[in-house]
Amino acid sequence: MEHPIPSRILVFGGTGYIGKYLVQASVSMAHPTLVYARPSSPLTPPANLKLRDRFRSIGVTIIEGTLEEHEKLVSTMKVVDVVISALPYPKVLDQLKIIDAIVVAGNIKRFVPSDFGCEEDRISALPPFEAVLEKKRKVRRAVEEAGIPFTYISGNCCGAYFVNLLLHPHEKSRDDVVVYGTGEAKAVFNHEEDVAQSTIRAAVDPRARNRLVVCRPLKNAISQLDLLSLWEKKTGRSFEKRFLPDEELVRLSNTLPDPENIPVSILHAIFVRGGTVGFELGKDDIEASEFYPDLKFATVDDILEVFLRPGAPEPYRGNFK
Ligand SMILES: NC(=O)c1ccc[n+]([C@@H]2O[C@H](COP(=O)([O-])OP(=O)(O)OC[C@H]3O[C@@H](n4cnc5c(N)ncnc54)[C@H](OP(=O)(O)O)[C@@H]3O)[C@@H](O)[C@H]2O)c1
Repeated sequence: MEHPIPSRILVFGGTGYIGKYLVQASVSMAHPTLVYARPSSPLTPPANLKLRDRFRSIGVTIIEGTLEEHEKLVSTMKVVDVVISALPYPKVLDQLKIIDAIVVAGNIKRFVPSDFGCEEDRISALPPFEAVLEKKRKVRRAVEEAGIPFTYISGNCCGAYFVNLLLHPHEKSRDDVVVYGTGEAKAVFNHEEDVAQSTIRAAVDPRARNRLVVCRPLKNAISQLDLLSLWEKKTGRSFEKRFLPDEELVRLSNTLPDPENIPVSILHAIFVRGGTVGFELGKDDIEASEFYPDLKFATVDDILEVFLRPGAPEPYRGNFK
């Protein structure tokens, strides 16, 4: 791997599910790393405070502030080169405040907005997920209109996140799995660390300026049924399949209250419509595993292995509120 000149990287949402992998990856590549986090208070979860301490211990600077503090945002921008946002879905439009601050500061070399999932400019989904994607698209269009250099990252299915969701490996006594659609559509699973490493590499790479980076190693495209068979082989167990067909997912997306209608619509987009594999990359798009071959993306088999070890990643419930 070439050694890029260290860039000062600021991460929003750095204590979150995706954010912590990004911070870790940035530090591992020797970039001076800063996290903009909400002011700690008695309501801040202990795990969040512990993570801030761990980050400080590896040299990360924690800046406490809110997204409403424009002056603080601008002064923070002025001491960094690259801004990466991993804010949760409900705060997606608040990134417009980050964009305003980047414009005023005028020195940011790259902005990576909070995407990391399905490629929002290339897929269409049921209305609840479409509304999420539309907000993310709105942020991208604002970035472009402001003339801010960007890199967009599509991470597809975060491996540990989706293995927990689909196979619930921590529920040892459960012997059923829900299969979405027919279970035959392929989806791309990437280890969170690989998505994070790709993000940091691209965020400081002049070749990735104003380009889309999709994490889509072909070896990691697998159907839900094949994923389950692989898991059955590894665990020596067999699971009853409970199919949730296309029409039922559509019905749930129409009848569940907001925001509970979002996860079923995401599952529909990925596992019924095949949204992570169903489009060709454009000539300017970057496929991360080909572009950074030394990253050696973990395979689906490697990702499942993680769940056979003690201390396997616990499920994360997502933040749709
Ligand atoms: N591809 C996938 O499989 C996948 C999976 C999960 C998420 N994602 C995407 O990744 C991105 C990040 O999501 P996430 O689930 O990692 O986020 P998250 O963990 O829910 O939140 C990230 C951080 O944002 C801060 N935050 C939370 N609520 C906030 C609020 N109301 N106001 C201001 N800050 C708030 C918190 O940090 P502080 O309190 O320390 O400030 C939190 O740790 C999103 O775009 C999401 O759609 C993709």
